[in-house]
Order: sequence, then C-alpha cells, then structure tokens
Amino acid sequence: MSKHLKLSIPSLENKIYFNYGGQGPLPKTSLDAMVESWNKIQELGPFTENVWPYISREIISTKQKLSDILGVSISNIALSENITSGMVLPMWGMRFDDNDELLISDCEHPGIVAAAREFCRRNNIELKIFPIQKIRNLNDKTFLDSIREYITINTKAFIISHVLWNFGFKIPLKKLYEELKRLKNDNYLLIDGAQSFGHIGIADEVKYSDLYAVTSHKWACGPEGLGAVYVSDRFLDFSDPTIIGWKSLKKEQGIYEPHQNILHKDARKFEIATSCTPLLAGLRESINLLEKDCSEEKKNAHICKLSNYLSEQLKQLKNIDLVLKNPLKNGIVSFDIQDLTYKKQEIVKELSKKRIFIRIVEDPDWFRVCIHQMTTLEEVDLLIKEIQELIM
Ligand SMILES: Cc1ncc(COP(=O)(O)O)c(C=O)c1O
Repeated sequence: MSKHLKLSIPSLENKIYFNYGGQGPLPKTSLDAMVESWNKIQELGPFTENVWPYISREIISTKQKLSDILGVSISNIALSENITSGMVLPMWGMRFDDNDELLISDCEHPGIVAAAREFCRRNNIELKIFPIQKIRNLNDKTFLDSIREYITINTKAFIISHVLWNFGFKIPLKKLYEELKRLKNDNYLLIDGAQSFGHIGIADEVKYSDLYAVTSHKWACGPEGLGAVYVSDRFLDFSDPTIIGWKSLKKEQGIYEPHQNILHKDARKFEIATSCTPLLAGLRESINLLEKDCSEEKKNAHICKLSNYLSEQLKQLKNIDLVLKNPLKNGIVSFDIQDLTYKKQEIVKELSKKRIFIRIVEDPDWFRVCIHQMTTLEEVDLLIKEIQELIM
C-alpha cells in the first residue's frame, strides 16, 4: 500500500500492472538478496564442507516462514519448483483401489487437469468433473449444496483451487473438508493454492487439506522456479513420490543394501535433488517486504475496496458482465464483454499499448484483473477509462 514498496519494484516503474495472478513483479531487494546468496555460495563453496551449513540454514529459515504462513508444521512442507510440480508429483503417487474415483472442479488450471486425466488413464479410472461454473448464485451455501451431489462413497480424492483462478471465488475449505468427512474418513482433499498464497490469509485453512501447493512467483512477488507443498501426515502414508532423488532419502550411504524404507518419513520424501538455493532468499525478502508494507487486515480491506469499486464501475458500462456478484472478497475481478466487434485478445493488446496489463483466462475466455495490495485507485480509474474508450 505504501508508495515506497512500489518504487522498489523496477518492473512497476513503467506499467500499470494487473497480472499478479500470472506472475508478480520482483522487488529490487529480492533480486539483490538472490545475488548476495549466489555470491555467498561461491565464496563458501560451491561444493565444500563450509557451504552445507549455509544451505541448510537457508532451507530451514524459508520453510519456517512458509510454515508460519501456511499454519502447518515445517516437517509437512516440501520445497518444489512451481505449483504444477507441487501438485502433480505427489498426486501421481496416490494409491487408488478399484472403484475409487478422482473428482476435479471445472475451474482448474489446464496443466493440473491434464495431469489428473493422465493419472486416471494410467490407473484406468474415470475422471469426474464437478461443474462449479453451472452453479447459480454461487456462494458458500450453493457451493456446498452442489458438492454434496458429486461426492460419493467412491470419491477418493478431490482436486480444487482455494481461490479459483478464473474468477476468484474462494472455496470454504473447512466446510468442504467437513462435507467430505461426512461420507467417510478415507478421502483426500488436494488444493491448488496458486491464487491464494501471498494474496489472502490461509494460515487457518491449509490444515483442512491433504495437499496444498503454493508458488513464490505470483501474488507473493518472489522469483520464479520456487514453490512449496504442504502434505498432511495421512497423505504421506497414502502417496509415493513420482520422482525420487537424493533429497528424498533418509541417508545416501548403503543404498545398495536392502531396505524396507529408504525415504524420509516427512514431506522431504517429495523433494528430489539439487535445486536453486538463492531463490529462497529472494522469496523470503519479497514476503518480508509485503508483510512490512501493511497488516493482513489492512491489505484485505484495501484489496476488497478496490476490487468492489472496479466491479461496480465496470457494471455501469454497456455490455460488460461481471462473473461474480458484489461484494467481492478478494482481488480477482473477472468479467466478459458482449458484442465486441473484434477479438477479445485485441482489447488486451490495445490496453498493453497503453502499458496497462490484464489477461484473458481460458475456458471460458473471461478477462481477469488482479488487484494487489500495491494497486492504487488511480490505476483502477485509468483501467476503467481505457476499457470504456475501447468498447464504446
Ligand atoms: C490455479 C493455478 N494453478 C496452476 C498454475 C500453474 O502455475 P505454475 O506455473 O507455478 O505451475 C497457475 C498459473 O497461473 C494457476 O493459476
């Protein structure tokens, strides 16, 4: 919210940016922290006795930060590369029996849907789709009423995003968890946190899932190439890693000896091998900057005020349909424009010529604007004015 934070982000100097849900811009000091970490690794190592304690401290302090944000124990967090690897690799290791079904919402990211399809193909399972987009007057109650019709005794796992990437509806995780448990204990909730981490507070809700994947590079404005995944204790028993490497192992020595269990008992069993340590310092710095900028409460109030303002103003324009009704509860504002004389992508292109950046999501092709704690009223007003001129 402070101008100071925005000024410390080089990418925001020359643009009006609304694509935080795609990728957040990197603060200068986060880049500096990564360069410093790279230098430190070269100064100490790269492969020396001196460097290991440093790398280990970097990993632990990053996981500690993530454990605070996710509200879960450090031993249930594995580092990953992005959302997709955090979701898909543990998911592909799930052990399904005959008649077990995989359920996925119709508002998931294409890569996750494709991976779920492949899981079902390999295991000869039907992929069931839960159609959120068809729910009329979507709210917590109508969502829960509808999901009751789709969860059955055969539903072994359900994949859904915490905040839907295409139009921002936030899933009531605790209530969803309770719905699943009403049927049986032996089912699993897999959550894609791409649009929640760094955007809304999640510390009270992650624990209701069995897998919750996050990434550094979106709302948290960290570097790309770093993610993390929470896995519950029971998921640790339920899934085998898809890729195993030295980081998954309890110990490397004696690997040729027969062993019952060579893998870590905790979430590290889903970690693989050498990864880019300096990214950790970059993410921690970005998170610290965002946290210092304003409290969780102020951030929410600011984001909701602007997203509701934007949606109210857009509603006044001819031919614009908002996907969600007010009041919006987070920073994702999605809308459609009817009767355009040219392709929707042209609107995005024309806006980008004015250095205003929004995107179109796929299936359905709605326009999506992301309001961040750094977004200002002036930026929103400018966006509204430019859209108005384009569709007149
Ligand atoms: C909900 C959701 N899931 C997954 C992804 C893919 O993210 P990544 O490239 O980190 O795997 C995105 C990216 O926009 C997303 O919005």
